[in-house]
Amino acid sequence: MLSLGPVTLGSVAVLAPMAGMTDVVFRLLCKEQGCGLVYTELVKADALLKGVRRAVRYAETTPAEYPVGVQLYHHEPEVLAAAAAWVTEHIECDLIDLNMGCPVPRIVTRGAGAALMRDPHLVERLVSAVVNATHLPVTAKTRSGWDDSELNAVEVARAVEAAGGVALAVHARTRAQRHDGPVNWELLAQVVEAVDIPVIGNGGILESTGALAMREQTGVVAVMVGRGALGNPWIFGEIDAAWHGRPWTPPTLPERLAMVRRHVETAHEANLRWAGRERERDDAELRAAKWVRGHLVGYVRGAPGERWFLRQLNDLSTVDAIVETLEAAWTSPPSAPGPGPTHSGAPA
Ligand SMILES: Cc1cc2nc3c(=O)[nH]c(=O)nc-3n(C[C@H](O)[C@H](O)[C@H](O)COP(=O)(O)O)c2cc1C
Repeated sequence: MLSLGPVTLGSVAVLAPMAGMTDVVFRLLCKEQGCGLVYTELVKADALLKGVRRAVRYAETTPAEYPVGVQLYHHEPEVLAAAAAWVTEHIECDLIDLNMGCPVPRIVTRGAGAALMRDPHLVERLVSAVVNATHLPVTAKTRSGWDDSELNAVEVARAVEAAGGVALAVHARTRAQRHDGPVNWELLAQVVEAVDIPVIGNGGILESTGALAMREQTGVVAVMVGRGALGNPWIFGEIDAAWHGRPWTPPTLPERLAMVRRHVETAHEANLRWAGRERERDDAELRAAKWVRGHLVGYVRGAPGERWFLRQLNDLSTVDAIVETLEAAWTSPPSAPGPGPTHSGAPA
């Protein structure tokens, strides 16, 4: 059984934190399909301390998804430590993860996210401050470096370990690469070699073959899957089975459709729970339909009617319309995609 400090994982495949995607609704579906660990999307430490509604919502977890990590970001040790203490007191979670990889300009220009890769001393101070502020295990998510001239993942990993971090996830691309381009497995292997804490490998894993190859060539103890999980929560079961040499059966079409229905329905329910004003309750289903669009792109990937489905994606506004149109996309040949469903809200 794989452990990150005191946290035991039931699977070697974990879900990458993804802003706007890895909300509690999706995390639960991944967990049910064999995901070993989920994280909240990144939460700004000072916003959390100020009680900003959105930040607090992002940090919320639910027992069915445990083990779960809350991911925080900031560049000042005192602020990050205070937010970690707040999370420890108010949120049920298993670990606190520190974001050191976000490439977004408004975050790096303030010295947070991937900008931290440029200052391993600050990394050590940040991790140490957080470790001292919480009894929860602390992990970090880093990159290979800032750009090709600053590939210092090894140095940063050592800083995380020296400060008391219990594990590390490395997205083996530079900040300059953002989310695309080759994943640096050679450097990932060097990080694994350089530290004693468990290293989780991240970047470009789309199915179990990639996960096994990454393990083989780098020695990572687990893999973190980001975009490969969108519309494919089954990937976690697939990877864990392959990792341990167990057989695995891909989902059938009815299972796929049932998953999509649950995904949109639970997003709808969550919207109703969070709705403050009456107007928000009235359009909760429409907002749920918009909310899951990024996932629908994944749920239809490989279907004969994929392009036909994507053309009408923005018009799908109800749970029934989404499921019926998706079913038509999977059952219609691409050359003759058919008229599609006639349910109200679905395209003609
Ligand atoms: C839409 C999107 C949002 C992301 N948000 C976060 C985030 O909140 N925190 C984080 O550490 N990484 C974030 N990432 C990076 C992913 O966690 C992951 O490192 C990256 O997508 C590479 O993995 P992949 O190739 O499997 O997708 C995000 C990536 C995407 C595509």
